[in-house]
Amino acid sequence: MAAMQIKEGIVWVGAIDWDRRLFDELIPLPDGTSYNSYIVRGADKTALIDTVDPTKTGELLDNLQEAGVTRIDFIVSQHAEQDHSGSIPEMLEIFPEAVVVTNDKCQAMLRDLLPIPESRFRVVADGETLDLGGRTLEFILMPWVHWPETMVTYLREDRVLFSCDFLGAHLAQCRPVLCDECRTLEAAKRYFAEIMMPFRPLIRKHLEKLQGMAIDTIAPSHGVVYPRPAFIFDAYRDWAAEATKNVAVIPFVSMHGSTREMVEHLTGALIRQGVCVVPCNLVQTDIGELAKELVDASTVVLATPTVLGGAHPAAAYAAFLVNALRPKLKFAAIIGSFGWGGRMVESLVASLGNVKVELLEPVLAKGAPAEKDFQALDNLAAAIAAKHRGLGVLS
Ligand code: FEO
Repeated sequence: MAAMQIKEGIVWVGAIDWDRRLFDELIPLPDGTSYNSYIVRGADKTALIDTVDPTKTGELLDNLQEAGVTRIDFIVSQHAEQDHSGSIPEMLEIFPEAVVVTNDKCQAMLRDLLPIPESRFRVVADGETLDLGGRTLEFILMPWVHWPETMVTYLREDRVLFSCDFLGAHLAQCRPVLCDECRTLEAAKRYFAEIMMPFRPLIRKHLEKLQGMAIDTIAPSHGVVYPRPAFIFDAYRDWAAEATKNVAVIPFVSMHGSTREMVEHLTGALIRQGVCVVPCNLVQTDIGELAKELVDASTVVLATPTVLGGAHPAAAYAAFLVNALRPKLKFAAIIGSFGWGGRMVESLVASLGNVKVELLEPVLAKGAPAEKDFQALDNLAAAIAAKHRGLGVLS
């Protein structure tokens, strides 16, 4: 790997995880990821902003060597999750003069997770500053992006915001600075959906707070550095807003084709109604893709056959995710096929307690869908279109 200068005195020394394909044993990483770590040099002191995943400590050390770093005074730990903090214990051994600068909540979590003695911490409060000699780090608490202890760091003189997980993206690329806007935006949206979406009200507050600051560069701890902050701020404002778009997402699973036939019919009917529809086959679609599609959606239609009296486990998992990620959906419906009864609708509805949606009339077919079921699906498509018109997202 290679250390790369972001600006004079600010060097990216992180690690790129090109072939990591799963994060937290949950989140698919089709584009790999990076753990961004930055050296900031003042006239008197040197700070390291975040470390890297412990599997990549060797790369961090190589990059520090390449950057000519022989002394680190401060290791700023913005977030206790181990993909940014996991190398701290080894760094403290190698740089015995270094202290970990963090807030009190993060300190407590770091001590729960990692073997770091209390004597190696320097606890800072919201708004506190640290002078490196001609360069000032200001620490700003930014809870719930996505843990309660997270803070960001503002380098005043250079107007750089080190934003940790906030505004990041799971993206491996050889240059640390934004170069492909489309690819980055897709990765950032997927990341927002998977990690930030449940915290939209707080994210809006954080965006407002940052809007009042002079920021020229955003340097997150995953993905790429943004030399034009409006690129990611505008996207986040859109994603975090409560307004939805003319989008209906259909997460579906089908065992013998009946539910699939219903999904295909509903998809066509929605297209004819002018609704942007995204069917997601749960057997093939990774959950990050489904989460990304839910960011803008007004409506979700869960489609499943009945299995052992309830929903197919893949559909139950999708409902669990929708409930956990709390997208800004306004409407939900359930469709599917059954053989001899069951409580599929009730079980899925019970799984969606966190999502404040209006439930539309379900459509259930006994066995293969018949003409009356297709008519009911046409009616559902018309109802969804009418609801979208009511929201003002479909003319
Ligand atoms: Fe990238 Fe929440 O750690």
